[in-house]
Amino acid sequence: MSLDQVLAYLQAHRQTHVDQLCDLLRIPSISSQSDHADDVRRAAAFCAAELRELGCAAEIVEGDGHPLVYAQTAPRPDRPTLLLYGHYDVQPVDPLDLWRTPPFEPRVEDGILYARGSTDDKGQFYAHFKALEAFVRTGTDLPVNLKFLLEGEEECGGHHVYRYTESHADKLACDAVVISDTALYNETTPGICYSLKGLAYMEIRVSGPAQDLHSGSYGGTVRNPANALAQIIAGLTDADGRCTVPGFYDDVLDLEADERSAFASLGYTDAQLCAETGAPGASGEKGYTTLERMWARPTCDVNGIVGGYGGQGAKTIIPAKALAKVSMRLVPDQDPPRIAAAFADWVRKLAPAGVTVEVENLHNANPVLVPRGSPMMQAGIRALREGFGAEPVFIREGGSIPIVGTFQDCLKAPVLLLGYGLSTDNAHSPNEKFHLENFWRGARTSALLFREAAAR
Ligand code: BES
Ligand code: MN
Ligand code: MN
Repeated sequence: MSLDQVLAYLQAHRQTHVDQLCDLLRIPSISSQSDHADDVRRAAAFCAAELRELGCAAEIVEGDGHPLVYAQTAPRPDRPTLLLYGHYDVQPVDPLDLWRTPPFEPRVEDGILYARGSTDDKGQFYAHFKALEAFVRTGTDLPVNLKFLLEGEEECGGHHVYRYTESHADKLACDAVVISDTALYNETTPGICYSLKGLAYMEIRVSGPAQDLHSGSYGGTVRNPANALAQIIAGLTDADGRCTVPGFYDDVLDLEADERSAFASLGYTDAQLCAETGAPGASGEKGYTTLERMWARPTCDVNGIVGGYGGQGAKTIIPAKALAKVSMRLVPDQDPPRIAAAFADWVRKLAPAGVTVEVENLHNANPVLVPRGSPMMQAGIRALREGFGAEPVFIREGGSIPIVGTFQDCLKAPVLLLGYGLSTDNAHSPNEKFHLENFWRGARTSALLFREAAAR
């Protein structure tokens, strides 16, 4: 089947499509901040309205938390079905003063679109919308059935989408789940991602005296909670960069020899890492290369520490409490609740006497591994190859998309992770961006995938 008309349509409407994406990006749909709840809802309505205009049956699904958008093209039983998942919520924007222009006033400069949500994930899933639009507006027969499931709480750990997936497995039944919420390998090389990390996100609260004390009057007499927290954190990793939580590595699936050689042949260097991150050097678990650590080894990292005085000059106190947020990025086949429980036990053991320690498991996501050889994967590779005009490579990712494990369990369909962003697009950071060329190539790739998925 020829897609010439469809691809020509996408080419001719590139600017319009960017303008429309900017309308979506103007909606500050920050899911974790309750004063933005109406904005989250507006973003859902925007997506549902657009899918309806494209001929889909679309609904806004209310439930506990922010709404879902579900939509589907008119079902035709002779065609394979793709479930396209994405999230229309975005991360908070602080620190605002580091943005060169306001996060919800999209701006294009040198072919790059800057806005919160541009790459994570509005720009990426919107490429799927435009692919469908190209079929509809050119009157081209759509070779697949499409189902869309968009959520508004991916970034804040909501549960709506899990419950919905578990209770609507028949409705969501499909031949593959397609997700564009990851990254290309680099600016010139598309990647087909076959593994995501999972997550156990913990909070440690240490308390000591009832209130801050004069450090002269009481220093040396009671346990300092900030010192105690530092001691706990120092005990979480060893000199080889390994996590010391007992049993942490028990279920870790070792990298296969062919994966290690495939990673090595990508030629990613520590100089590149330093250039991308601004860090003065690479660091991590001994015995593994940087890509291996980034993609396939579990980690234990402090995300934030608060306690005592951090203002100008000196203030001589023994703080009453201290707090740390610690994330463990997990790999197949680690079990997040089991790791979280082992972590809590270990922290209590590491804690010195004289303080009270509370450990809370805030947030979990399952790690994901998808088979590399499925026909759908091959269809994805063909689509990426033609859409981006370059040979795709297999990649893994260090990030997490919590719903993917549930899709695998409930829908028993292969999951295709076709990322159109870049690791350097500043997702979750100031000046988030999306390269327009990747938006357009992404839309093309999605259109090609519709054909390839049917031709598999
Ligand atoms: N799109 C990301 C996931 C991602 C990040 C994939 C980097 C590949 C590379 C997603 O929106 C995200 O940020 N996920 C969170 C999940 C967490 C809140 C449970 C993450 O990874 O921190
Ligand atoms: Mn995302
Ligand atoms: Mn994100």
